[in-house]
Amino acid sequence: MTDLVADTQPHTARTIAFLGAKGGAGTSTVAMNVASVAASSSSVCLADFDFSRGDLANMLDLHPPGNIAQLMNLSGHIDDNAIQGAVLRHLGGFDAICQPRALEMLAAPDGERVQHMIARLRDTWDRVLLDLGSRVDVASLTSVVEADRVVIVAGNRVGDLHNVQRILRLLDVLDQPEDKVRLVICPFRDREVSLAEVETHLSLPVAAIVREDHPTCRETELHGRLATDLLPDSRLAHDVKRVWDAIEGDPVPLVVPARGPWPWSR
Ligand SMILES: Nc1ncnc2c1ncn2[C@@H]1O[C@H](COP(=O)(O)OP(=O)(O)OP(=O)(O)O)[C@@H](O)[C@H]1O
Ligand SMILES: [Mg+2]
Repeated sequence: MTDLVADTQPHTARTIAFLGAKGGAGTSTVAMNVASVAASSSSVCLADFDFSRGDLANMLDLHPPGNIAQLMNLSGHIDDNAIQGAVLRHLGGFDAICQPRALEMLAAPDGERVQHMIARLRDTWDRVLLDLGSRVDVASLTSVVEADRVVIVAGNRVGDLHNVQRILRLLDVLDQPEDKVRLVICPFRDREVSLAEVETHLSLPVAAIVREDHPTCRETELHGRLATDLLPDSRLAHDVKRVWDAIEGDPVPLVVPARGPWPWSR
């Protein structure tokens, strides 16, 4: 009986890292909309971990008193007061910690500082969602290792898919367990690579797709709002709920593909 109960427990990923296959893929769009879906059932912190030029403050239209660069620049333990001074609650129901809007204020933290920051966020919220952007740097590498789940966000274009393959190899080199990864295709464009081709050539199931929805993206970005909150009947609102289900759902096997058999390989 005890075993049965244990087997039916849902998988709960507490720290979820969103990594884009390319700049502009839609990583922040997916991360912030998923944060608002997740916030309906848990306390959620969405942290902008794109230390090169994260723009969540702009996208969410937030003007917090502090930012993550200030937290990273503190010496020693990052205490609760410091964290609360950098957080703002968004209308979407989650708390956000953003990068500074002023580019000259950006910080380049080392791995230990990134680890400490993630640990402190985990102490404070049930779910910690990290928008890593698309760069491979100390912060993103440390975060993917620390996270329980790595969501790769990629369009169904050839260039994005090449980069997904490179990321999968990197995760393999970093000894990351197979069941950490979820591949989300965003935006899914009808005329580009089919889902069947994506799965065949990456040897990785697509966990969810976010279809193109320019009107909703434009409208929500204009107002710093989220699809589920401002336009709950939109395609984007529908698709991001499925992304959250895929993040929460059963692990999928990750088989790192051999080089070569891509029809578009170079
Ligand atoms: N499903 C979609 N349909 C249409 N447009 C989309 C979709 N998802 C994202 N976009 C648009 O693509 C642009 C880039 O999105 P976003 O900023 O989320 O990407 P990103 O990967 O975080 O970029 P960056 O590399 O700058 O961090 C935005 O204008 C956004 O509205
Ligand atoms: Mg982004």
